[in-house]
Amino acid sequence: MTSDRVVDLLQAAYMDELETVMNYQTNAIVLDGVRAEEIKESLQADIQEELGHAEQLGQRLKQLDARPPGSAEFVARQESLQPPADSTDVLAVIEGVLDAEEDAIATYRELVDVADDAGDPVTEDLAVMLLSDEEAHRTEFRGFAKEYRAD
Ligand SMILES: [Fe+2]
Ligand SMILES: [Fe+2]
Repeated sequence: MTSDRVVDLLQAAYMDELETVMNYQTNAIVLDGVRAEEIKESLQADIQEELGHAEQLGQRLKQLDARPPGSAEFVARQESLQPPADSTDVLAVIEGVLDAEEDAIATYRELVDVADDAGDPVTEDLAVMLLSDEEAHRTEFRGFAKEYRAD
């Protein structure tokens, strides 16, 4: 039996992934300067991964006889990931990305537990895979943060 909590978390994670796609895309376009190039490339690569996460979450919702939400249910949450006023402020974007990845990690950790409690190993397995991707993103951006904070 599907737990409401599993469906709620899948739907919340779906919207978070799409907000992440929007903000990574915007920041990849907005940032300026030689030093921003590597960050922009990394964001571009992650956009495809986060979009893939949203698709997997949406398909899982469908398998559970639920559905992914449309934009009318969307509430923006990523304050720290808004494009910085200074388009060369690469560190602000890196910090925003770290916040978004930490948030995703917390969501997928919770989904692992809730799916396990609900006896839903397929959703649990998906949550573990997504958790692993987000931890890899966090590691990459922690590396960038180290370099930029040192300046
Ligand atoms: Fe993601
Ligand atoms: Fe991520």
